[in-house]
Amino acid sequence: MTVFNLDIYALRRERFLEQLGVAAAIIPASELTMHHADCEWPFRQDSDFFYLTGFDEPGAVALLLPHRPKGERFVLFVQPKDPAAEVWTGFRWGTEGAVKHYGADIAHPLDQLTEKRLTSYLQGAEAIAFRIGRHPKIEPLVLSVWGRQLDTYSHTGIAALGLVAPTPILHSLRLRKEPHELERLREACLISAEAHELARQITKPGMKESEVQAVIEAHFRASGTRGPAYTSIVAGGDNACVLHYTANTALLQDGDLLLIDAGCSVADYYNGDITRTFPINGRFSAEQKELYSLVLAAQEAAIQAVRPGETAEKVHATALRVLVEGLVDLGLLEGDPDGIIERGDYRHLYMHRTGHWLGLDVHDVGAYRLGERPVELETGVVLTVEPGLYVSDRLAVPEGQPEIEECWKGIGIRIEDDVAVTEHGHEVLSQAAEKSIVAMER
Ligand code: GLY
Ligand code: MN
Ligand code: MN
Repeated sequence: MTVFNLDIYALRRERFLEQLGVAAAIIPASELTMHHADCEWPFRQDSDFFYLTGFDEPGAVALLLPHRPKGERFVLFVQPKDPAAEVWTGFRWGTEGAVKHYGADIAHPLDQLTEKRLTSYLQGAEAIAFRIGRHPKIEPLVLSVWGRQLDTYSHTGIAALGLVAPTPILHSLRLRKEPHELERLREACLISAEAHELARQITKPGMKESEVQAVIEAHFRASGTRGPAYTSIVAGGDNACVLHYTANTALLQDGDLLLIDAGCSVADYYNGDITRTFPINGRFSAEQKELYSLVLAAQEAAIQAVRPGETAEKVHATALRVLVEGLVDLGLLEGDPDGIIERGDYRHLYMHRTGHWLGLDVHDVGAYRLGERPVELETGVVLTVEPGLYVSDRLAVPEGQPEIEECWKGIGIRIEDDVAVTEHGHEVLSQAAEKSIVAMER
């Protein structure tokens, strides 16, 4: 039932429409999805819809109509007030609430989203902005209305002549965070970092991964967030070498490391995404310490590369070079680092990129490349920096590289921070989560 600052959303719609030009945009909300039988997953709003409306109910549809007069440009179709339904599934704002509390110029109940009404709203728009392939419930309606306009064009001379994707414009707006968005990300990162600190304090050999997960997620909920932003990864020992390990059912073994990748999502959906790795018994073994120091050095160097004018590509390349050079020094790779990087001969030990954009989506929207050119980092862009090393038997050792000695196997390490690009460099939003060797040992 939270109402967020309406001016923020109004300004976003204005900017979006300004860039969209003559197109009328149709932006659908998420639908409820079934978990099993008649039980639903918790509702998660579509991030594009939320970015433009702040409205947090399922099934809604927003129309943004630049061709209509002022006062008729923002139309919301929403679930109507219905006491009988609200007894089962809770409060709805209804059409009145959509106007009064969400700034809609006009609101209709969802069942009035008919071909006739949509045709009438789209009449006079020179193009339609709608993301094909993502909204199966409403897409047939949109295409049918557009098709009918084209059918009658020879008589009426009125039809939208193009169907355009709203997402490149919308996602480039979402990529550059405004100061108030950075504030929300700071909050998500702080609560996520507190959970990591708690988890390290309570971890002991013999506990289950799920017990540590419970402590982390209890902190998320007790702090007033929506809960985990994604399925928490709590991976002891060799489980950490499975990048998307989410079973979290194993016992924590004395002598192993524990990798935790967990972050929360706050009320308006901004997310934290933090990974920390530490020894379950409080002391690194010699091999664990070598690899941890190397990942930490790679991460710190990569964070230093985050500044306006650099690229995510450069951040990755920086981490990769430190890792490869360090692995050569340790004897886990052999040869000239440039050649190893060029051939990809490190990929049995480091098989993912060093980060991604972060925002309303954990893997946030926005282009990384525009054709041949990597997108330059700008003030307000937020990205994760998350190098790792994963030593196991799962992937074959590339020809010419040394077989891995047993003493290294079962070590999986990732260190992940959330970093905002600032005017002169960067701010580590997740800095409240410790990562030094001293802090990781007890
Ligand atoms: N937690 C997902 C990721 O780090 O990309
Ligand atoms: Mn991440
Ligand atoms: Mn992560």
